[in-house]
Amino acid sequence: MKLKLILPNKKYLKSWQNYLRDFIMRGNPEDRTSYEKHLASTQKPKYFTWLAWDRTGKNLEKGMVQQTNYWAIVNDQVVGKTSFRHKLNKSLRSQGGNIGYHIRPSKQGKGYATEMLKQLLPKVRKLGYKKVLITCDENNFGSRKVAENNNGRLEKIALDNQSRSTCYYWIEL
Ligand SMILES: CC(C)(COP(=O)(O)OP(=O)(O)OC[C@H]1O[C@@H](n2cnc3c(N)ncnc32)[C@H](O)[C@@H]1OP(=O)(O)O)[C@@H](O)C(=O)NCCC(=O)NCCS
Repeated sequence: MKLKLILPNKKYLKSWQNYLRDFIMRGNPEDRTSYEKHLASTQKPKYFTWLAWDRTGKNLEKGMVQQTNYWAIVNDQVVGKTSFRHKLNKSLRSQGGNIGYHIRPSKQGKGYATEMLKQLLPKVRKLGYKKVLITCDENNFGSRKVAENNNGRLEKIALDNQSRSTCYYWIEL
């Protein structure tokens, strides 16, 4: 597969904004406002500085942890995003875990999320991590399959801190 993970890069800003617009128009309506806010933030001059701060853990807002975001590029377009959260705090242990992944709605169902996670795991291992946590809604069968395709071991299905039935997968690196 031709998918490549890159750190956010100005060259792909327009494509990244189209990715966000795709989620605004075709994603889960509950997430719409947060995607609209994110799209607005991409227009600020400091956008890439903020992403670099997240990556290095500088100036983190309360409750946030160091996080490295990667964009997935296929045919010179951003098709997905995956994030590695370097620490698990109480909130992330309950919901979010170490790794998140999203594929833009018009590009789902092509194996891209499975491939993104496959390419992310060796990067995390190189940082010295031995295992990572992935959480997802019990009914998010796409997300569950992505974790399972990458040797995710289902530890438990339990209620998260917002009483949602959640799967907790661990991947040994
Ligand atoms: C979940 C998500 C990342 C999957 O991305 P994707 O690129 O479509 O996933 P893949 O193409 O790699 O599919 C992986 C597997 O899941 C299956 N799958 C995908 N969507 C599915 C669905 N809605 N129901 C059942 N199975 C599904 C695929 O058939 C595939 O199975 P296979 O490996 O046996 O062929 C994507 O749907 C998404 O971004 N959703 C919104 C954000 C989200 O839920 N992120 C996860 C938060 S924990």
